[in-house]
Amino acid sequence: MKKILIANWKMNKLRGESVAFIENIVEQDTVDIAIVPPFLSIQQIKEYALSKNILIGSQNMSEYSHGAYTGEISATMLKDVLCDFVLLGHSERRKIFLENNDVISRKVERAVVEKMPFILCVGETLDERDLGQTEEVITHMLNEALSSLIGSHWDLVTIAYEPVWAIGTGKVATKEMIRSVHALIRDKLIEFSPEKGESIRILYGGSVKSENVKEIFSIDNVDGALVGGASLEALSFNQLINEVSV
Ligand code: PGA
Repeated sequence: MKKILIANWKMNKLRGESVAFIENIVEQDTVDIAIVPPFLSIQQIKEYALSKNILIGSQNMSEYSHGAYTGEISATMLKDVLCDFVLLGHSERRKIFLENNDVISRKVERAVVEKMPFILCVGETLDERDLGQTEEVITHMLNEALSSLIGSHWDLVTIAYEPVWAIGTGKVATKEMIRSVHALIRDKLIEFSPEKGESIRILYGGSVKSENVKEIFSIDNVDGALVGGASLEALSFNQLINEVSV
């Protein structure tokens, strides 16, 4: 399967900056490219993205369909602006906005009902890794969010393994850590869905940059990367693309 590079801009960039970024992205067809901008830029950059074959995602989505939920954005609203997918359970949502596994599993259910493709982010904290709990934590997160999925719902799923201690810190998980967690996730996906488990993309995220992306992409079961800091400038994002598309 084609690998994918995804830019997660978090709470950065105004609409004009977003358009300028997309216009500057190098064109190639070796890897898929996606941008996850703030909500307010989705509609504006979608038309530029379409012409460059770039997918557009949302950083979050409400677990509710519609109604009295001040400040929330629904799946239907995202589909209305032609958003291609949504990130669910990013560690910043879990940690800063207190989204627990229950909330995230309801968001997964909502995504399934609305047929909205989603990337489920999972990852351990440094304490959990030091205590030897990594496998347990990842397995629990996957069970909570995905155990009710059946049949064709699996076509909506991508997983991102993002060790919390590697996000925005410059610390990258070692090759062996990435290999073993991705293998665990792959086994779990095959257990959930013997038909689809092998073809679900598993991404790595956490301080990915042009210096390490090639090595990370060479690890078994790494089907792409979710990139924060190094995706904020077109220059550094293009360097990433160039590293993996030659
Ligand atoms: P980072 O962020 O690349 O800045 O570590 C990754 C992410 O939060 O998805």
